[in-house]
Amino acid sequence: MTRALCVAGMREHRSFLRAAVRNPRRIGAIAPSSRRLSALMASVVPATGRPVVVELGPGTGAVSALIAERLPAGGRHLAVEVDPHLAADLARRHPTIEVITGDVRDLDRLLAERGVTSVDAVVGGLPWSLFDAADQHRILRRIADILAPDGAFTTFAYTHTGPMRGARSFRSALEAVFEEAQISRTVWRNAPPAFGYICRRPRPGSPVAEPRAAAAARSGRGIA
Ligand SMILES: C[S@@+](CC[C@H](N)C(=O)[O-])C[C@H]1O[C@@H](n2cnc3c(N)ncnc32)[C@H](O)[C@@H]1O
Repeated sequence: MTRALCVAGMREHRSFLRAAVRNPRRIGAIAPSSRRLSALMASVVPATGRPVVVELGPGTGAVSALIAERLPAGGRHLAVEVDPHLAADLARRHPTIEVITGDVRDLDRLLAERGVTSVDAVVGGLPWSLFDAADQHRILRRIADILAPDGAFTTFAYTHTGPMRGARSFRSALEAVFEEAQISRTVWRNAPPAFGYICRRPRPGSPVAEPRAAAAARSGRGIA
């Protein structure tokens, strides 16, 4: 590794740690994704044509860099990041990425404002297990609704979070929203070890598939 790359990596770690200290529940991680996990996440980005790719929660840009490497000329890479410091830093370092400072809960509006109505790949780096079940389902539904028919969605989870309630509800939401939700092998070279979900073929939107928490939140009622 060259000295310049090493310094850039240290800077990225420092910036990530600062963001985690500012708001630990929003970051939900101790370090940026490793190159191996990032490559798995970016593997669904089409390498030909002029694809539109949306990245959720790019953080310090570990996965963004791999998406940018793979994206063909003429492709479009939009990244939605809620932390304004991280967003500004990413935009400065990667001028070709359309960085949007915003909350993924507003995904449809943020994309519509930029004329995006269909996307070829969605790459998610969000701390899903920290979101409540209603938000998990609602955000996944929005991703499914905007994906092109042959599009794909990838995201990851840390192996140790498996038994947590948030991780379990996220798995159920994935299965409710996508016909295919494939789980990758564990990526041990990541801190902490993680695995990926590779999802295709969104199910048509259906209130039947919506968990009770999400339905109750939408209607303003509590859950019995
Ligand atoms: C676990 S970090 C992942 C960062 C990066 N993708 C990586 O793999 O190294 C989660 C990222 O999601 C962002 N995030 C959390 N909640 C968000 C939300 N509601 N909307 C947009 N970004 C969010 C955090 O600020 C953070 O950058």
